[in-house]
Amino acid sequence: LKFVCVSNDGVDDHMIWLIGLKNIFARQLPNMPKEYIVRLVMDRNHKSVMVIRRNLVVGGITYRPYGSQKFGEIAFCAITADEQVKGYGTRLMNHLKQHARDVDGLTHFLTYADNNAVGYFVKQGFTKEIYLEKERWQGYIKDYDGGILMECKMDPKLPYTD
Ligand code: ACO
Repeated sequence: LKFVCVSNDGVDDHMIWLIGLKNIFARQLPNMPKEYIVRLVMDRNHKSVMVIRRNLVVGGITYRPYGSQKFGEIAFCAITADEQVKGYGTRLMNHLKQHARDVDGLTHFLTYADNNAVGYFVKQGFTKEIYLEKERWQGYIKDYDGGILMECKMDPKLPYTD
C-alpha cells in the first residue's frame, strides 16, 4: 500500500493512476459531469493524492493549490465502493494535509462538501465556519450550489502521517 501525489506530467504510471482515479470519481460522484471530472483531474494546476494498492487506485483526492494565497481547494474526494469505511479516507486526508503543508506551503483547505459527506469532513477537522479571510479566497474558488463550503486549518507542526 502506498500514498502518492501526482499531476498530469506524462509519466506512464501517473497517467494510468489518474485515469483510474477519474473513473472512481465518475462512479462515486454521479452528480458531477464526467467531462468536468476529466478536465480537473488532468488539469496541470491540479494535483491528486492517491491510495495505491497492488498498483491499482483505491481512491484519492484531487485539489488545486493556490500557492500565493496559501490555501488549497479540494475538488473531488472518493474511495472506491468496496473499500469505503475501512479507514482509507482518513489516511488519505492525512497524507494530503502533510503534503500540502510541507511541499506546497499551504495553511488551509476549502471544499464544497456534498451534504452526505459533511460527516466525513467534520471527522477530518473541517468546519462549516470559514475563518480564512475572504480576501484570501474570494474569486479563487468557484461558487457551487449543491454543496456546503467547509474549511480545514492545518496544524503547523503536527506529524499527520507516520
Ligand atoms: N458521512 C458520515 N460519516 C462518514 C461518511 C459519510 N458519508 N463516510 C465516512 N464517514 C466516517 C466513518 O464512519 C469514519 O468514522 P469513525 O472514524 O468514527 O469510524 C470516518 O468518517 C472516516 O471513515 P473512513 O473509513 O476513513 O472513510 P472512507 O474510506 O469511507 O472515505 C469518503 C470517506 C471519501 C467520503 C468515502 O466514503 C466515499 O468515497 N464516499 C462517496 C463519495 C463522496 O461522497 N465523496 C465526497 C464528496 S464531496 C467532495 O468530493 C468535495
